Amino acid sequence: MKKSTVLASLLPLVAADSDAPNSQIRIAYHGDDGMMVSWNTFDHVPRPSVFWGRSKEHLTNVASSAVSVTYPTSTTYNNHVLIKGLRPDTTYYYLPAQLNEDVCYEPFNFTTSRRVGDKTPFSVAVVADLGTMGPKGLSTTAGTGVAPNNVLKPGEKTTVDSLVSSMGDYEFLWHVGDIAYADYWLKEEIQGFLPNTTVEEGYKVYEAILNDFYNEMMPVTAAKAYMVGPGNHEANCDNGGTSDKAHNITYDLSICMPGQTNFTGFKNHFRMPSDISRGTGNFWYSWNSGMAHFIQLDTETDLGHGFIGPDEIGGTEGEGASPVNAKMNAQVNWLEADLKAVDRSATPWIIVGGHRPWYLSHANVTGTICWSCKDVFEPLFIKYGVDLVLSGHAHVYERQAPIADQKIDPKELNNPTSPWYITNGAAGHYDGLDALQSPRQEYSRFGLDTSNATYGWSKLTFHNATHLTHDFIASNNNAVLDSATLYKSHKTTGNGHHYGW
Ligand SMILES: *[C@@H]1O[C@H](CO)[C@@H](O)[C@H](O)[C@H]1NC(C)=O
Ligand SMILES: *[C@@H]1O[C@H](CO)[C@@H](O)[C@H](O)[C@H]1NC(C)=O
Ligand SMILES: *[C@@H]1O[C@H](CO)[C@@H](O)[C@H](O)[C@H]1NC(C)=O
Ligand SMILES: *[C@@H]1O[C@H](CO)[C@@H](O)[C@H](O)[C@H]1NC(C)=O
Ligand SMILES: *[C@@H]1O[C@H](CO)[C@@H](O)[C@H](O)[C@H]1NC(C)=O
Ligand SMILES: *[C@@H]1O[C@H](CO)[C@@H](O)[C@H](O)[C@H]1NC(C)=O
Ligand SMILES: *[C@@H]1O[C@H](CO)[C@@H](O)[C@H](O)[C@H]1NC(C)=O
Repeated sequence: MKKSTVLASLLPLVAADSDAPNSQIRIAYHGDDGMMVSWNTFDHVPRPSVFWGRSKEHLTNVASSAVSVTYPTSTTYNNHVLIKGLRPDTTYYYLPAQLNEDVCYEPFNFTTSRRVGDKTPFSVAVVADLGTMGPKGLSTTAGTGVAPNNVLKPGEKTTVDSLVSSMGDYEFLWHVGDIAYADYWLKEEIQGFLPNTTVEEGYKVYEAILNDFYNEMMPVTAAKAYMVGPGNHEANCDNGGTSDKAHNITYDLSICMPGQTNFTGFKNHFRMPSDISRGTGNFWYSWNSGMAHFIQLDTETDLGHGFIGPDEIGGTEGEGASPVNAKMNAQVNWLEADLKAVDRSATPWIIVGGHRPWYLSHANVTGTICWSCKDVFEPLFIKYGVDLVLSGHAHVYERQAPIADQKIDPKELNNPTSPWYITNGAAGHYDGLDALQSPRQEYSRFGLDTSNATYGWSKLTFHNATHLTHDFIASNNNAVLDSATLYKSHKTTGNGHHYGW
């Protein structure tokens, strides 16, 4: 296909209509004394502002910024305002001053992160591979070629429904890549699920899918910190090369408008706390909450051999290269410094999330199984005693054993020295779930896949410094379909930061 000739300059922003985006309000932790408040507007806002206070009736404070950003083909501006000087683990009310809707919102509320070292038990929700629900995504129908098990049954509750109805059960939501699946616009048209547009007009469908997703998520994201990382579906508009087999066409990156390459929407939409964790944008960063240190990694680019092009991680995914033209080994050097600095007496738990797995019951296919990721990250996970590694990418759920360098830890969950691995890419998106390989890998401990037709999310519960439970929550009825508890003695050697066992 020829590259689109549609002008690359900023397109006029569309007026409000029934399909128009809401304000897509979302918040993100910024230490235990700050909260990043982000929302979208149709127009550029010279001074985005948020009113806030300790009581609903008295939003007597105002925080502002000059950050109101957009990109070619977007229908909105992304406004980002950091509220600073808050107390940890405290509930505040807030309301952005400039909103998209004519409706009058009641003030929203959020609770700041737990203070570092707070040993109060708490839970968090984790998803990966969560797409738009409804007429542009996962619904009770799909296009040609989608297995019947992979659509919703009439009345079936989705992962978004489940996250909304469970908001009392978790403190924040962590989305480990693949957010909305806007790059599925082409596949959904080729399969006859969405009406056909031209390649030139495709960006409208792409942006509409993004807007639908952020609209749907607002009940959660306006109330709970929403921490995100990059997946392959954030990278560009062609889903790593979508094929129209009937017409013998394989589309490639050249069909993408400038706003749909290089993680552009993802970079504009979010502001993760990399500034205070010396990370890089929304790509790699860390944060603490209570007794846990959380690390978001980027499995799509910058895998420690300097520039990693699409070929190295498989397919054309991740195209667009380094998010900020990072220096050689920038991510891995950052990871080691971050791990080295963790004070295990304050945050005994270290939890890592990265989109692509390397331990999974799946054919050993580059692109799904990320050996480059294993090469650069696993040695550091072992060296610094990372407790749990979460991933998605494959649309299955598999809980693995603790493993180090492909060897199962003989202690299993009873004080292992190796990191524990869990892949949960079963949150749901347009064409549903994948199959686990049969027979499963020796390290597989529990799995659910397309044959089980169950969408779900992960709940982590930190009981204390030694016990952590992972639950798989079925979205349709909030039932716990798998539960496992890790025991770690978390004894440190006391010599500096080095971790001993
Ligand atoms: C905070 O907002 C949620 C809705 O997002 C609401 O259910 C809850 O009652 C509010 N909490 C307080 C303390 O007002
Ligand atoms: C859209 O175009 C594809 C070919 O690119 C075709 O297979 C499909 O049937 C068309 N769908 C509709 C709804 O026209
Ligand atoms: C499909 O296209 C390729 C190159 O564009 C060509 O080599 C091949 O013969 C085509 N296949 C069919 C079945 O037309
Ligand atoms: C991707 O974005 C970065 C800035 O974030 C820029 O330096 C780089 O040139 C972009 N790459 C492409 C292929 O557009
Ligand atoms: C999987 O494939 C990679 C190359 O893509 C190879 O290096 C590795 O040894 C294989 N691993 C297994 C367990 O077969
Ligand atoms: C998942 O489906 C497989 C195949 O039908 C079945 O053997 C297995 O018991 C199911 N697992 C659960 C937890 O229902
Ligand atoms: C930690 O929590 C686990 C699970 O609730 C409990 O069995 C254990 O006794 C607790 N340990 C301590 C030291 O409180």
